Amino acid sequence: MAAPRVLFVCHTGSISGAELVLLDIVEPFAGQSAFLFEDGPLAAALAGRGLKVAVSRWGQGLAQVRRDSSVLKVIPLIGRLLAIVVEVIRAARRHDVVYANSQKAFVLSAIAAKIARRPLIWHLHDIISGAHFGAMQRRVQVTLANLCASRAVVPSQACADAFIAEGGKPDLIAVVPNGLDIAREAKSPAEVRQELKLPAGPLVGVFSRLAAWKGQHVVLQALAQAPGVSCIIAGDALFGEQAYATRLHQMIDDLGLGDRVHFLGQRSDVPRLMSAVDAVIHPSIDPEPFGRTLVEAMLAGVPVIATDAGAASDILEAGRAGTLVPPGDAGALAAAIRTVMSHPPELAAQLTYADARARAHYGKAQMLQTISAIIDTTAGDVS
Ligand code: UDP
Ligand code: GLC
Repeated sequence: MAAPRVLFVCHTGSISGAELVLLDIVEPFAGQSAFLFEDGPLAAALAGRGLKVAVSRWGQGLAQVRRDSSVLKVIPLIGRLLAIVVEVIRAARRHDVVYANSQKAFVLSAIAAKIARRPLIWHLHDIISGAHFGAMQRRVQVTLANLCASRAVVPSQACADAFIAEGGKPDLIAVVPNGLDIAREAKSPAEVRQELKLPAGPLVGVFSRLAAWKGQHVVLQALAQAPGVSCIIAGDALFGEQAYATRLHQMIDDLGLGDRVHFLGQRSDVPRLMSAVDAVIHPSIDPEPFGRTLVEAMLAGVPVIATDAGAASDILEAGRAGTLVPPGDAGALAAAIRTVMSHPPELAAQLTYADARARAHYGKAQMLQTISAIIDTTAGDVS
C-alpha cells in the first residue's frame, strides 16, 4: 500500500507539551498536511518539518476558551465552530486518515471525519475527568470517540483508565508513552548557571506552563518553608491563564520571596536550564496525563520531585526514579526540597536509575515507530 495521506489537526497555534509531541510525530510525514484552528508558532514549526500547513479562517482565539467553560459560553461560538467543521471536511476529503491532536481538535474532527467518511485517530493528551472538563463535555467527547474514532492514542495508563471510566471503549485505546530524545548538557552546572546568569546557591526549577492545575503556587508556599533555596520558573500562561500568573506574582510579594524566585517566561532551552538546577519540581495538583518535564529532568541527570498523581508515579516508578509527594501539600514539598538539597548519599544511584529508565521506556524512536504503525493500520483498514 502507498503511504497514507495524513491530515494532522490541532486546535492551537501555541506550543505546549502536546504540540511538542506532535512535532516529533510528524517527522516521518514530511509532505503531509496539518490543519490548525489558529495561527501561531506551531504553524511555522510544522512547516519547518516539511508539512503543508493550512490555518482556519474562523478559529483565531478559540484555544483561549477554557476547556472547563460552560455550554452557555460555547453557544455564541457555534457558527464559527461549524465553519471550522466544514473546513476540516474539505481537507479530510483530500486525505486517507485524520489525526486529531487535542480534545478540541478531536470534537470538530469527529464530526468532519464522519461526514467525509475518513478514519480518525484521536491523540488524547488529557485525563478526561471532572478536574478539567464539565460533565457535558466529557459525555460529548466519549460518545464521539465511541462513534467516530478508529483509535484513541494516550500517553499513559492514567489517561486510558480515565477514558474507560467515562465510558470510552477499551478496545479503542493504544497506550503510547511520549518519547523524548535529548542529549545531556556537556557543560558543568556551574558553567551553565554562569552563562545563563542564574542565581548561585541551592536552586530548584519548575518548567511547566503557568496554569493553576500545574501547581506553581504550591512551590511558592513550599519555598516559604525552605529558607535559602532559590527557584527559577520557566513557562508562560499559554491558554488563557493570565489571572493565575498575576496571582503568582502577588503571592511572591505576600510571601516575601521576591529575591529568591525568578520568572524566566517561555523558554526554548529547557534541557540546558534543567541541567543547571539542583532539582526539578513537577508540582501539578491534578493528575498529570504524562508530564514531559519529568522525563526531561531524568535525562538531564537532575533529581525530580513530583506530585504523586496521574502518570508521575509510573514514570518515576513509584519513587525509585525520583521523589513523590502528595499533590497540593506545601509542607511535604518543602521537606522533600530540603532533603534533596542536603545531597543524601542515595541520590546518585537514583539519578543513574532514572536516566536508564528514561532511555529504556521513553525514547522517541519507539514512539515514532508505534504511532506510524497505528496511522498505517488505521488508513489500511478502510482503503
Ligand atoms: N517547556 C518549554 N518552555 C518553557 C516551559 C516548558 O519548552 O518555558 C516545555 C517543557 O520542556 C515540556 C513542555 O513544555 O517539554 C511541557 O510539557 P508537559 O508534558 O510537561 O506539560 P504540558 O504543558 O503539555 O501539560
Ligand atoms: C498534555 C498533558 C501533559 C502531556 C502532554 C503530551 O499537555 O498535560 O501531561 O505530557 O500533553 O502528551
